[in-house]
Amino acid sequence: MNYDQIKPFPSKFLWGGSTSAYQVEGAWNEDGKGPSVIDMANHVPEVTDFKVASDHYHHYQEDIQLLAEMGFKAYRFSVSWARIYPEGSGELNQKGIQFYHQLIDELLSYNIEPILTMYHFDLPYALEEQGGWSNRKTVDAFEQYAETLFDHFGDRVKYWLTINEQNMIILHGSSIGTSSQDSENQQQDLYQQNHHMLVAQAKAMALCHRKLPNAKIGPAPNIAPIYPASSKSEDILAANSYTNIRNWLYLDAAVYGQYNHVAWAYLEKKGYTPVMQEGDMRILQAGKPDFIAFNYYTSQTVGESTGGDMDYSHTGDQHETVGEPGIYRGSVNENLKKTEFGWEIDPVGFRTVLREIYSRYHLPLIVTENGLGAFDQLEEGDVVNDTYRIDYLRQHIEQIQLAITDGVDVFGYCPWSAIDLVSTHQGSSKRYGFIYVNRDEFDVKDLRRIRKQSFYWYQKVIANNGLE
Ligand code: BG6
Repeated sequence: MNYDQIKPFPSKFLWGGSTSAYQVEGAWNEDGKGPSVIDMANHVPEVTDFKVASDHYHHYQEDIQLLAEMGFKAYRFSVSWARIYPEGSGELNQKGIQFYHQLIDELLSYNIEPILTMYHFDLPYALEEQGGWSNRKTVDAFEQYAETLFDHFGDRVKYWLTINEQNMIILHGSSIGTSSQDSENQQQDLYQQNHHMLVAQAKAMALCHRKLPNAKIGPAPNIAPIYPASSKSEDILAANSYTNIRNWLYLDAAVYGQYNHVAWAYLEKKGYTPVMQEGDMRILQAGKPDFIAFNYYTSQTVGESTGGDMDYSHTGDQHETVGEPGIYRGSVNENLKKTEFGWEIDPVGFRTVLREIYSRYHLPLIVTENGLGAFDQLEEGDVVNDTYRIDYLRQHIEQIQLAITDGVDVFGYCPWSAIDLVSTHQGSSKRYGFIYVNRDEFDVKDLRRIRKQSFYWYQKVIANNGLE
C-alpha cells in the first residue's frame, strides 16, 4: 500500500542507539564485578571473549560525547547484574552502582534519555551455580535486583526494559551462551526457566508501577514476521504455529498475563509444560507493560515439517531458522538478499511486524535493536565507508515511517549498535556501530574511537527528524 502523504515522525521521537553491558563494557572483573554466565561460557576459539570488549567502562565519557555529537535523543544500555550484585543477590557492590550513576548523569548532561535494560543475557554466574533460572530463587533475586535499580536510578530513568530477547534465550540459548547444548530434558527445563522469567518480569513491572508512578516499563523480545514457505495450507499452518511459539508466547504473557493457547498446546504435546506455583497466573496478570520494545533484524520463513525432512541437529544463531521436527521447518526466502553473515534483509517485513504487534496489543512501540553486522574496513585517514549499513538503516527507517502512516504508534528507534561492540557469538570483527572501535579479534590495539560514514549520515537523519 502506498500513500500520497507520508506522515512525519512524531516531534519527540526518540532517535538513539543500543548496546548491552557485556558486549561493550569490558572491565569484566574490575571494581568488584562478579562473573556472569557469559564470562564463564566456553567461547568459540576463533573469536574474542568479552573481557575487554570496547572498554566502554573506561571510555564512557568519550563515548557519550560522541553519541551527543550524533544528536542522540536516547541511549539504550543494559546494567550488568553481576556488577551490582556480584553474587546475584545479597551484598550490593557500591562501585557498580557508582558506575551507572555516572553513566546516567553523563547522558542526562547532554539531554539524552537513558533507556535501561535490566537484564541482557548476562545472568550472574553465582546464580547459575545454584540452577540459574531453573531455580525459583532466581525470581526473588531478580526482584531484589529490580528494586535496587528502581531505588538508585528511578529518579532519573523514565524508560525501563525488563529482559532482552527472552525468546532468543529460550530458542537459541546454546549459541548465545546462556544455556548449554540441547537435550530432550533440557527443552522442558528451558520452558521452566521461561516461566520463571515471565514471573520475574511481571513482578518487576508491578513493582516499577508501585515505586515509580511516572516511569514506563516494557519487555524487549526479538519479534520477526513469519512467512509460510508456500501458499500450501500446511505451510501456512506451520508459519502460524511458529509465530505463536516464537513471538506471541512472550508478548501475550507480558501484555495479557496469559499463556498463548497455540504455544501452550505445543508445550503440552511435547511434554514441556512448566510447573507453576499457586498464584503465578495472578502475578502474570498483575504486571502489565506500558509499551512494547522489540528487536528486529529480519523475517523468517518456515514450512510444514513431517519429521525427518531436514537436519535439525543444531539450533542455529538468533536469526537462522532451523526448525523442529513435526512442528515447522526453516526455509530460505529466495526473494531476500543476505548480509555477509547470512542474515536475510527484509525492510518491508519490518513494516508488517510493526503493524502486527500494534494491531494485536495496542501499546506504543519502540524499536530497541535493528542493524547490520559487517566486516568494516578501516581505510587510510581513519575512514570507514559503511555505505551498506547506511542503505540497510535507510530502508528500515523508511518502513517505520510507512508504519507510522499506517497508524502504528512508534515512539523511538534505537538501532544496534550505538558503537562497535563484540557480537554475541561472532566476535569483534562483526561490527554494527556508528562508531568504529580500533581493535582486532585478539589484539585490543589502542581502542581508538573513529566516526564512520554512517555516523555523519545518522547525525543528519536525527537533525532532520527523519530521512530527507
Ligand atoms: C540480538 C541481541 O539478538 O542480536 C544482541 O540482543 C546481539 O545482543 C544482536 O548482539 C546481534 O547478534 P549478533 O549475533 O550478530 O551479535
